[in-house]
Formats: sequence, C-alpha cells, structure tokens
Amino acid sequence: TSSIHGMWSSRLAFVLAATGSAVGLGNIWRFPYITSENGGGAFVLVYLICIALVGLPVMFSEIVIGRRGRMSPVNSMRELADDVGASRAWMGLGFLGILAGFLILSFYSVVAGWTLHYGFLYLKELFGGAGITDPNATFGALLANAGELTFWHGVFMVMTVGVVALGVEKGLERAVGILMPVLFVLLLILLLYGVSTGHFMDAVAFMFKPDWSQVSGGMIVTAMGQAFFTLSLGMCAIMTYGAYLPSHVHVPKVGTAVALSDTAVALIAGLAIFPVIIAFGIDPGSGGAGLIFTSLPLAFAEMPFGIAYGMAFFLLLSVAAWTSAISLMEPAVAYLVESTNLSRKSAALTVAVLGWLAGLASVFSFNIWSEVSVGGKSVMDAIEFLAADIMLPIGGLLTAIFAGWVLSKTITREELDDKMHDWAFKGWLWLTRIVTPLLILVVMAGILGVF
Ligand code: PHE
Ligand code: NA
Repeated sequence: TSSIHGMWSSRLAFVLAATGSAVGLGNIWRFPYITSENGGGAFVLVYLICIALVGLPVMFSEIVIGRRGRMSPVNSMRELADDVGASRAWMGLGFLGILAGFLILSFYSVVAGWTLHYGFLYLKELFGGAGITDPNATFGALLANAGELTFWHGVFMVMTVGVVALGVEKGLERAVGILMPVLFVLLLILLLYGVSTGHFMDAVAFMFKPDWSQVSGGMIVTAMGQAFFTLSLGMCAIMTYGAYLPSHVHVPKVGTAVALSDTAVALIAGLAIFPVIIAFGIDPGSGGAGLIFTSLPLAFAEMPFGIAYGMAFFLLLSVAAWTSAISLMEPAVAYLVESTNLSRKSAALTVAVLGWLAGLASVFSFNIWSEVSVGGKSVMDAIEFLAADIMLPIGGLLTAIFAGWVLSKTITREELDDKMHDWAFKGWLWLTRIVTPLLILVVMAGILGVF
C-alpha cells in the first residue's frame, strides 16, 4: 500500500519531516513567551505532563490512522470508518484539522515574517546598515507598519507554497537535516552566553521551580494547547505525514523520537533565552508575543560576532518555521488534490492565497485594529487561542477516541508493530482510551473557567 501523494523514502525521511513539522516557532517563539506569561515553573511542569500523557498517545494514534488510511485526513477517516462499520461523521475530524491548520497557518506566517525581517535586518547590518539599537523601538515600529508586516508575511507564504506546490518537501527535508542541527548548535551557543551572564541558575529556577499560586484553569488550558501545538498534533498534520510512512517502520520508535527532540529543543530554547532576559533586567514574567524579538537583540549586540549570529539565528528560525508551515498546508492540499479536480499546484496556491488573506487579520491586530478586543484578547491572540488551545485539543480528543475505541485492537496492534511488547501496547491502549480523553475533557471544562 502506498499513498497517491508519494512516500517517504525511509524511516529517517519521515523522522526528518515530522521533526521539521514539530520543531518551529512553537519551540523558540511561543514556548518562551507563554512560559513567561504563565509565571514559569508550574506551567512548564504541566506542559511536560501533557506531552507525556496526552501528546505521545495522540502522536502514535495519528501515525496509526494516517498510515492505515493512506490518504488525506478526511478520506483516511472515511475509509477507516467504513472498514470498521463506524459512522462517516468521523470525516469531521479531518475537516476540523484542516480548518485548525488553516487558522494556525494564518498567524504562523505573520510571525515567521517577523523572523525573516529580523534576519534581513542583521544581514543589512553586517553590510554596514543601521543596527538594532533600541530593540523595543525596532519591534514596535515593525508592528505599527502594516505594509511591512504584510510584505514579510507574503514572502513567507510564497516560500511555503513554492515547496508544497512543487512537491519537493523531500528535497527540503534533506537540507533541513543539516540546517536544524545548526540551529540547535546556535541555541547551545546562546546557552553558553546565558551561562556567562551569571543568570543561568535564575533561569533554571524560573523555568523549573513550580510556583503553585500560578496554577489556574486558564494556565492548564494553555499548557495543554501548547503541548498539541508544539508536537503538531490535533490537526491531522502528523496523520497526513503518517500516510506517507512505509509499512515496515516501527511507529512507537519514530513517534517517540519526534516528541523527544521537540521537547528537548523547547527546553533548551528556554534555558538559552531566559538567562538573557534576566541578565538584561527584563522581568522574566513580562511575557508578550514580542519576547524574543525585544530581548535577544540586546544579547546579540554584546556577543562576539553577535551580528552574524543574530542573522543566522533568525534566518534558521525562519527555516524551522518554513518546514512547519509546509505541514500546516499539507492536509488541506492533499484533501483538495484527492477530492476536487484541482492539480497539486492550484490546490496549494488556493490554500496559500486564502491563508495569506486570513493572516491579514493578525497583521492588523497590531496596528489598525490594535484597539479591537475579542474576549479581552487582541485579534491575533484570539485566533491563536481558538486554534491552538481549543481546536487542537478537541481534534486530539477525537483522534484518541477513534484510535482507542473505534479502530479494532487487531488493526492498531498491527499498525503500531506486531513485535511491540504486550505491556507497551496495553499501556498505549490504556492511555489512549482512558487517560488522554479524560485529561482533555477535564482541561476543556477548565475553559469554562476562562470565560
Ligand atoms: N509544531 C509547530 C511548531 O512548534 C507548529 C505546528 C502546529 C505545525 C500544528 C503543524 C501543525 O512550531
Ligand atoms: Na514544536
């Protein structure tokens, strides 16, 4: 069995693609800023618990469903529901995923545009241009300039649609196999710089010493949403990539590898960024989506080779965002190719144009709509909240119920791996059937407390 959209050439190709999807702005932009907004330690702990008890089981479930269905999420769900005699309404999970992915893509591309813009600011500085002397002013000026934001958002969307339309993801993934380790090394260098500031242990304390007074329904909702967001789960992205996974690959092994690498990158990013924040006298709890853009340039201005470093950091972060955005687009494109007579190119272009237009809402939320508030949030925050904190967990809940209860144990056992130990399979089944759905439901109930 193979997918009409092509197949990954090997286990490594899948791991690279899925890791490329997982590791992105979620780790280096979103994780530090929401950790900051939620007061550190207790938030990180809840996030890690969600990764282990909800993220991993859903990761396995998505890969299993995708690989068994071998199609876009909508059609894989229809196929599998038919196979086991369940209702075709399960296709709704695929549509929900496509919608969530589309909403995420819209603001993700805007933020990726910020990183591109910063990469080019440093590139210009390298060639004698004016540097970032006042990071707050630079970031504020960028947000105020709707034209500039729209431009970089557009550049990023063109980069993304280019790869998806040409179907050259695999070529990119190979390049990413080199570029992502470089980004990781850059984070380690920043970590060393952080240690040299003498504030490393303060950062460790902020990130890992739980302050229980910070625990609230809203905080737990955010932590769970971030667990889904960072692992690319709950919107059928990993499911879609699973459809291109060769049959002989051991799902638990690759799923765990992806989750572990993503978590490692997020924690190291935090440990690299928070010492800098603290060293420059910024309150680590001051939060805000601009956190890395207003704090890191302070360090880059003082580090040896800081300008070149800053350029490499932001450009490689853009590449990480690029491989994630591709996976945000893929479920919708795969569905359109299967179920309409659009070609891959037209399907990708359609999704990109609509995503770019939808992204304007996030662009405007910093300037012409800066006064607009949706339930106390800016327009972009509201889209982020709806997509990441609400739609992804609902998608994850449906995924777990389908894989755990609707699919037969023979099917899931076969897909997860025949040679899997009995205790491991039972453990997955117990988490997927009981623990994961219960936790998601309880946390979703906490949303009621948010309003
Ligand atoms: N996981 C990506 C990140 O951390 C974002 C993403 C979410 C990608 C959902 C695909 C699907 O940046
Ligand atoms: Na991530």
